[in-house]
Amino acid sequence: MKFLITGGAGFIGAALANHLVQTGHGVRVLDDLSAGDSRGLDPRVVFARGDVRDVPKLWGLLRGVDCVYHLAARVSVPESILYPVEYNHVNVGGTVALMTAMRDAGVRRVILASSGAAYGEQAHQPVAESAVMRPTSPYAVSKLAAEYYVQAIGALWKIESVILRIFNVYGPHQQLPPSHAPVIPKFLKQAASGGSLVIFGNGKQSRDFVFIDDVVRALARAAVVQDIDRAIVNVGSGADVTMNQLVDEIEALLGARVHRLYNDEETAGVSRLVADISLAAKLLDWSPQISLHGGLAKILQADSRFQISSSQFVK
Ligand SMILES: NC(=O)c1ccc[n+]([C@@H]2O[C@H](COP(=O)([O-])OP(=O)(O)OC[C@H]3O[C@@H](n4cnc5c(N)ncnc54)[C@H](O)[C@@H]3O)[C@@H](O)[C@H]2O)c1
Repeated sequence: MKFLITGGAGFIGAALANHLVQTGHGVRVLDDLSAGDSRGLDPRVVFARGDVRDVPKLWGLLRGVDCVYHLAARVSVPESILYPVEYNHVNVGGTVALMTAMRDAGVRRVILASSGAAYGEQAHQPVAESAVMRPTSPYAVSKLAAEYYVQAIGALWKIESVILRIFNVYGPHQQLPPSHAPVIPKFLKQAASGGSLVIFGNGKQSRDFVFIDDVVRALARAAVVQDIDRAIVNVGSGADVTMNQLVDEIEALLGARVHRLYNDEETAGVSRLVADISLAAKLLDWSPQISLHGGLAKILQADSRFQISSSQFVK
């Protein structure tokens, strides 16, 4: 098959692009490199630098493409609170531009990387796709708006759509932007530098961490499964992990204790978010294969930023 991946130089996009070319597919990537890095791409991936809102550029890139993965987005919750207009322009405007270009080019299917963040605070956990959405940040609203656009324009112009609501992805070589570093590489970096692990709130808030290879397998399945037009599917581990348990797991892997520093002044976000992944099993024949322990071990093996010497730990 021939794919276009928008945002394909980013953390998830590059892993997906490399997987697809390595399994015999043709892959083009469009990325403006505002956050991504094209140097991690397999040389067989055709890379184009540009903005996902550039419709004429999309027309050229979409020629002969069977399926589009739409990942290009601004991805930080705190940054979205500071710059909601920018988040709306890129995440919503970019989706509308892509869908109209796909209509013009006659592409058959789009897969949107949406987010578990769109659920917001939910009383009932694990959260299923049928939950009433309660987005609480401009980022979360922009992902939900993108879902609606993909479905509505898709239905109008007979473009099949599959929406994956992805939970907290982690894996080797994940970026660590200072303003919004994801918690797993942040903790590993703090441990590697011999510093304290800074936990927001009381550490009892929980998240669903899903390993990058499992996410790539779910994305790959979404392109080939038949009769799933307009499906919305959670992609998570299905496991509930508090920040305190995450630090316990890191300590177990390192074989030593780390220093924990609780910061009550920082908001810890929603109290609990864990995915109900039964629909993914049913529709995509997918389930996660890699445990948190296994995934963290893979990062420590593969990512030289986190080489940790035991002399740095609390004994
Ligand atoms: N990482 C996660 O835990 C997670 C969870 C849920 C959903 N998602 C979604 O998955 C997608 C990829 O996330 P990621 O973690 O790989 O983030 P990322 O920042 O590494 O990747 C996003 C990519 O989009 C590119 N981009 C941004 N604005 C662009 C524009 N205007 N035109 C073209 N390219 C642009 C960036 O340069 C970057 O390479 C995003 O849509 C995100 O909302 C990620």
